[in-house]
Amino acid sequence: MSVDTLERTRAPGSRQSFEIRPLGGPLGAEVTGLNLDLPLADDQVASLRAALVAHGVVVFRDQRITPTQQVAFSRRFGPLQVHVLNRFHLQGYPEILIVSNVVEDGKPIGLVDAGADWHSDLSYMPKPSLGALLHSQELPAERGDTLYANTADAYDRLPAETRKLLAGKTAVHSYVYRYERLRKLSPWRPELTQKQIDEVPPVQHPVITTHPESGRKILFVSEGFTSHIVGIPRDESDDLLKQLHAHITRPENVYTHKWQPHDMVFWDNRSTQHYAAITPQHLRRTLYRTTVEGDVPR
Ligand code: SIN
Repeated sequence: MSVDTLERTRAPGSRQSFEIRPLGGPLGAEVTGLNLDLPLADDQVASLRAALVAHGVVVFRDQRITPTQQVAFSRRFGPLQVHVLNRFHLQGYPEILIVSNVVEDGKPIGLVDAGADWHSDLSYMPKPSLGALLHSQELPAERGDTLYANTADAYDRLPAETRKLLAGKTAVHSYVYRYERLRKLSPWRPELTQKQIDEVPPVQHPVITTHPESGRKILFVSEGFTSHIVGIPRDESDDLLKQLHAHITRPENVYTHKWQPHDMVFWDNRSTQHYAAITPQHLRRTLYRTTVEGDVPR
């Protein structure tokens, strides 16, 4: 145990004080003064949750925490979701998905292309993710950024006629749709088993949702998981989704997270989408992801 940890654990009942500093762009706040390996009171968790809702992405620097501590901290925000690709669960931690480009003994140790297109995690579930937490384990000296787009601001900036066109529409989100597309680019992706396919049938969600905590309207379709908008011809749906995707990911709407060692990043999947280009294999990059369950989108 490091001296630092010893000192902190010698003060039982002492309360950590922390600050939440907005990053000033379209998304993001940094929390300083907080160690996620130490207990947090309910009102402190509520402040962090409020920061998540207000800023969409919350960054905690230099968190030297174990997988058990990541799971415990994540659970303070709701039940955790277990990813369907069980081969990339961290051993002994089904709630942790390994995101990694590292190959050992000829086999990938994690999901290399988890962020290979813009998406909101688990939007293909009846109850998509409230938010996800990514803890860096090993980072390359260059590249490996994660980009986040603000889908509440994206809605606010839609022209009135597009809002009218989308009002009341639903879209299909499908894990298998994305998997098969990425499979053409990623040779490691084996065929899904029937059991896995059955676990993630396609679902329909409103194209415009209302964030359950902020009350803001959200543009809830993504390049990754949205196969089509229901009730319009497929080519029109394809064109519309392309336009919406370009609108969501306009540079002024995007925060780029440059990873530092032991960063923990918590993002709101209800009001953001994210993307991380695949990092080449010689630039080793591994992160652990936990995913908190949200509500049925409305
Ligand atoms: C993800 O989509 O959860 C992974 C993002 C990343 O690799 O930065």
